[in-house]
Amino acid sequence: MTNPFSNTWRQLKHGLLIGLFATAAVEAADNKVSITIDPSQASHVINKNIYGQFAEHLGRGIYEGIWVGENSDIPNTNGFRNDVMAALKDLKVPVVRWPGGCFADEYHWREGIGPRNERPIKVNTHWGGVTDDNAFGTHEFFELAEMLGSDVYIAGNLGSGSPQEMAEWLEYMTSDSQSTLANLRRKNGRDKPWKVAFWGVGNESWGCGGNMRPEYYADLYRQYATFLKAPDDNKPKLIASGGHSELTNWTEVLTDQIKSNMHGISYHYYTLPTGNWDKKGAALDFDEQQWIATFASTLKMDGYIKQNVAIMDNNDPEGKVGLYVDEWGTWYDVSKGDPGFLYQQNSLRDALVAAVNFNIFHEHAERVHMTNIAQMVNVLQAMILTDKEKMLLTPTYYAFKMYIPFQDATLIPLEYSSPEYQLGDTSVPAISLSSAKTKDGKLVLAIANIDPNKAAIITTRVKGNKTLLAKGDLLSADKMDAHNSFEQPNIIRPSTYQATSKNGALTLKIPAKSILVVEIN
Ligand code: AHR
Repeated sequence: MTNPFSNTWRQLKHGLLIGLFATAAVEAADNKVSITIDPSQASHVINKNIYGQFAEHLGRGIYEGIWVGENSDIPNTNGFRNDVMAALKDLKVPVVRWPGGCFADEYHWREGIGPRNERPIKVNTHWGGVTDDNAFGTHEFFELAEMLGSDVYIAGNLGSGSPQEMAEWLEYMTSDSQSTLANLRRKNGRDKPWKVAFWGVGNESWGCGGNMRPEYYADLYRQYATFLKAPDDNKPKLIASGGHSELTNWTEVLTDQIKSNMHGISYHYYTLPTGNWDKKGAALDFDEQQWIATFASTLKMDGYIKQNVAIMDNNDPEGKVGLYVDEWGTWYDVSKGDPGFLYQQNSLRDALVAAVNFNIFHEHAERVHMTNIAQMVNVLQAMILTDKEKMLLTPTYYAFKMYIPFQDATLIPLEYSSPEYQLGDTSVPAISLSSAKTKDGKLVLAIANIDPNKAAIITTRVKGNKTLLAKGDLLSADKMDAHNSFEQPNIIRPSTYQATSKNGALTLKIPAKSILVVEIN
């Protein structure tokens, strides 16, 4: 097994050696930023749901990745694999979106309740044309959420369902009455209603969810939402299906034409290294041009959110409606297996993509109330990959773990100007930073150094505090596509990091292509 610290050590040793002989040259080569954190400037709360996940009936995302059934040889509890559940619990997943994605608009909830051996077998026409025996349905999803301590975000079927079907699903989940549906839930093993925190009215209604125009969807939304009834203390927040990438006119039309019963509008943006859906780019074995292109692509998230926020500020000046980026992440050419399964490996690059996006989401958290990375296990930018009984944690998993202190923390705005990282005609800011005060009053700082060639030195001062200790985790590696494999699952994982201040300033030096999250005392 490779020592996970050896890469960092090699880099440090390398740095020390060069330092002995050419201090000035190394110093000049580092990316340098100076910041002063002023805890009294704390602004808005970073909703913990920004760290939400998405699990769709797609490939091995649910079946095998999460659910193996009680009779599986893979160790499980009530059908949920123990290894994956334990890892996900450690991530403190605040909310899970299910059952799709595109799958949601073909999902008929009644097929996923009752005795499993009586549930109909369906063909997943969106993803691989494989059969789905509906073994994972409503009860299993709520059990998953309960095991993880997560809230639920249901994506209802608007595209091929009906207002009645959607309304009855909500009644089935939330009614404490003696209605036939509530009693059916009881008969199926759940006495008390479940808590339903969020409800999506369709998914990507501009495309796989029905190829609609926003004006038509807005009318349908108003109709469906009218009938989504639940007890007063258990009403989900209703989320309209919005646009994607540069398609922001959905936000315009929906905020203009839906004036009540809407708590949020969804928005999707995926990071493709090439920007070309026919040849997106490889998950591994990419060159530096693909590295920088990936960050140029992912950084567009900031501009897209700003465009949406500007529209919302205009049409909803009171800020009642949230922007829910309920699908985001990297999307590469399929690594292996069925092309419809969207399985891809995950490297250090993905972890940095996650960190850069977290920092963007923090900035916009007044409007961005939730985001859901696509997807939790085995699909797209996953936290976890499995191969039958084997499991590995991806670099993205570690990025999510390192950022846990930011859940429900209060943002402390930072003023800094980042050096540019340039390759050919492409240039992006090399450094991305975010700082916050945690729920229990601690100061945290996150640093993402995108530059694959230069270390970064972040000189950090805290207003009113001269003696500082920074402690946390560093994620880095020597290769741009460093990743964990089933044979070598610990190639890349965080190492501990510590620094103390000198003359009132912390000198946080981190290697090229790395993420650091520290608590500062
Ligand atoms: O996450 C994969 C797919 O991407 C989802 O099903 C769909 O909503 C989006 O196009």
